[in-house]
Amino acid sequence: MLPLAFEKLISAYRDEINSQLLTVYNAGPESLVEPINYVLSGKGKRVRPILTLFTAESFGGTKAESLPAALAVEILHNFTLVHDDIMDEDNIRHGKPTVHHKWDVGTAILSGDAMLSLALKMVQKSPRFNEKLMTSFIDGLQAVCEGQAYDKEFESRDNVTLDEYIYMIDLKTGYLIGLSAELGAISVGAKDEDVIKARDYGRLIGRAFQIQDDLLEIYSDSINMGKSLESDLLLAKKTYLMIQAKEAVPFELNSALELAQENFTTGLEKVRTVLIDSGIRQKAEEKINSTIKEADLLLSELNIDIEKLSFFSNIITTRGN
Ligand code: IPE
Ligand code: IPE
Ligand code: MG
Ligand code: MG
Repeated sequence: MLPLAFEKLISAYRDEINSQLLTVYNAGPESLVEPINYVLSGKGKRVRPILTLFTAESFGGTKAESLPAALAVEILHNFTLVHDDIMDEDNIRHGKPTVHHKWDVGTAILSGDAMLSLALKMVQKSPRFNEKLMTSFIDGLQAVCEGQAYDKEFESRDNVTLDEYIYMIDLKTGYLIGLSAELGAISVGAKDEDVIKARDYGRLIGRAFQIQDDLLEIYSDSINMGKSLESDLLLAKKTYLMIQAKEAVPFELNSALELAQENFTTGLEKVRTVLIDSGIRQKAEEKINSTIKEADLLLSELNIDIEKLSFFSNIITTRGN
């Protein structure tokens, strides 16, 4: 298939996911129905459910067989974003005020909780529902919580290593993207060893995706990304870039970060320059590309039609450019 045909397919799948998401929760207390539909109508990229559908199709299954699992991971993902925005004190998501900012923290907590129950119910709607689907889903959920815990713990530590960082992002982001591929494979009856390869492919894609998100948080802008981008610097998040800069150019980094606390725009500009001049931005880009290559290698070990997934790997790296 030509790249344009893939773009069209992705766009059609995204439209279908978006319209399905709007049917998930329409009856209940207004104080839940409103914020939940506000979240589910947000302009997310729908990367995870598209991966679920693509994986299912690559294994010779159908979109219909994997659609409930795809919707379930997207609902789960959006629940984690609602709570993540409370934790990161971010006020913009998908170009709109975050739930805790538009309503209040209580509404955001409860909407997230209810979205989790909707996600679990959605898994159960899978045509070939089995215990494996649910066990994997719950493992993914626990991983996100643990990753989020490390992400917060790392804010107040200044000796976080790159290995610890990778461990943390695999939990907070990688496992959920891995789960998206895994559920796609399970929901069409793939063999256990293939399910694991698909899952590990997704986890590596997720790792690359998070490193790129860290990079874009510094080099993109809030309008383009549709979300607040101050929290990484203001909360001293330990990202791939920050850990290396702390090691290589501690003095320059600290003075740029101090400046950011007083005047965010000038401080950010300085951080950008420090990361470019020290070669750390380039290192991060190399890491993203080598991780995607590693993921693609796993794909090539599978005896399936990998055309769609190879294209998927490719779009991950061009996001935000
Ligand atoms: C945001 O994920 C959280 C990260 C893992 C970086 P996405 O960038 O996939 O979020 P949406 O759903 O497209 O907004
Ligand atoms: C992404 O967290 C992972 C989860 C939401 C679980 P981040 O805090 O890095 O992502 P953004 O920048 O808010 O999207
Ligand atoms: Mg966070
Ligand atoms: Mg955040």
